[in-house]
Amino acid sequence: MKTPVQLSHASRLLNHGPTVIVSTVHEGRRNLMAAAWSMPVEFTPPRIAVVIDKSTYTREQIAHTGTLALNIPCRALADLTFTVGSISGRNDPMPEEDKFERYGIKSFSGAVLGLPLVEDCIAWMECRVISEPHAEQTYDTFFVEAVSALSDTRVFANGRWDMNDSNRPLHTIHHLGAGLFAVASDPVQGKILSDQ
Ligand SMILES: Cc1cc2nc3c(=O)[nH]c(=O)nc-3n(C[C@H](O)[C@H](O)[C@H](O)COP(=O)(O)O)c2cc1C
Repeated sequence: MKTPVQLSHASRLLNHGPTVIVSTVHEGRRNLMAAAWSMPVEFTPPRIAVVIDKSTYTREQIAHTGTLALNIPCRALADLTFTVGSISGRNDPMPEEDKFERYGIKSFSGAVLGLPLVEDCIAWMECRVISEPHAEQTYDTFFVEAVSALSDTRVFANGRWDMNDSNRPLHTIHHLGAGLFAVASDPVQGKILSDQ
């Protein structure tokens, strides 16, 4: 089911603005948070901007490691996404009690950076931070470069999303606010208008 995505196609994973789950690990301690604010900023190399607030434990971890993973959740993971975006991992007493353990979230290791990736997501990117201290401090915006990308071929294959009636639980989610998500379920092909 999981297959590598060409890095030149990685921006397509985020083109339509899905909510993502940011995962990190520092000194054996893993963490997860939801992020609705991310977007591609360059095709090749695949670069992405993501907003990570100063109050988050995720941000503290990124400051140590300079790495993060973007996991793309689907409709079936709406509760998980809202939960990891509503509770901080900062005060978890031990690595054994991180958000993965507390909520029974299965993970696997990223191939390039060894970051913890959420098993039940539908696409994954491991990323290195591009140091931009002004953007980080002033706008809480991190610029990152994807160094590996994977997708679940049931919904993204050969560089394209295929969201249809047969794979509805795998469609991406888009945060409207307060835990309410819209689902990307109704693709429409745009055509160039004729001259009048
Ligand atoms: C759906 C959703 C989207 C969110 N988007 C963002 C975001 O884009 N940037 C951000 O800094 N926080 C965002 N948050 C809030 C963080 O996920 C939240 O503060 C989280 O508990 C931080 O966890 P941590 O302290 O363990 O890192 C979002 C929360 C939810 C529920």
